[in-house]
Amino acid sequence: MTLIKVNLCSYLKNTVVNVIERGVMTQELWTEVDRYITDLLVPADPVLDATLAASHAAGLPPHHVSPNQGKLLMLLALINRARTILEIGTLGGYSTIWLARALPVEGKLITLESNPKYAEVARNNIVRAGLAHLVEVRVGRAIDTLPKLATEGYNQFDLIFIDADKPSNPEYLAWALKLSGRGSLIIADNVVRNGSVIEPNSEDPSVQGVRQFNKMLAVEPRVSATAIQTVGNKGYDGFAIAVVTPED
Ligand SMILES: C[S@@+](CC[C@H](N)C(=O)[O-])C[C@H]1O[C@@H](n2cnc3c(N)ncnc32)[C@H](O)[C@@H]1O
Repeated sequence: MTLIKVNLCSYLKNTVVNVIERGVMTQELWTEVDRYITDLLVPADPVLDATLAASHAAGLPPHHVSPNQGKLLMLLALINRARTILEIGTLGGYSTIWLARALPVEGKLITLESNPKYAEVARNNIVRAGLAHLVEVRVGRAIDTLPKLATEGYNQFDLIFIDADKPSNPEYLAWALKLSGRGSLIIADNVVRNGSVIEPNSEDPSVQGVRQFNKMLAVEPRVSATAIQTVGNKGYDGFAIAVVTPED
């Protein structure tokens, strides 16, 4: 163990020295540190590995969160003692499984996915993970399925994870506010977009969607929010995290 630590430290030291000498952070370093964190703190998990393998075999794009981001989501749900979770953007159910693992036995997670094929892959993955009793996958454009949740009486999800089509983020935030209450967490992935989030005149609808979403967070009196930059094997991006605060 000590030997591994020493080798790892000297590897990192050399890498960091290289980076400082070159004056740039590299994808290579981010990936190595991501691997180091994942190996140390997010042990290999056959269920999650099978989820990614099945998603890949079914031809789904690799747009899932990374293992340590998935664990971060689970930890945030645990910290908030979430009993009900809403996810917008299921893909193969990888982040869904991380989040559902934080739920108590009587908990509930509803995840929204527009692509029926992806939803089917996700359902199978969720069954394999032994979480089918907690998770419901709803198929349809989120902008159509969100209002239905409201009519069904959902108004207090403890955690809402927004991770679908980014141009719609402002609408998803408006819905998240309708479907949450005091103490709820609202989390959104991909809010930095390789740094392009700081380009006010970007013609990329995803950048504009994220910029508007971030601006809404800034002026919304019902939330206290921040965003953190993330680097790793998924490149350079970020999470926005908001907590719904008491209204005055
Ligand atoms: C980034 S992926 C989600 C990744 C997933 N949260 C994870 O980390 O494992 C985005 C997903 O949102 C879905 N999506 C895109 N537009 C949507 C919409 N209008 N309504 C619902 N889902 C949508 C895509 O089909 C895709 O599966």
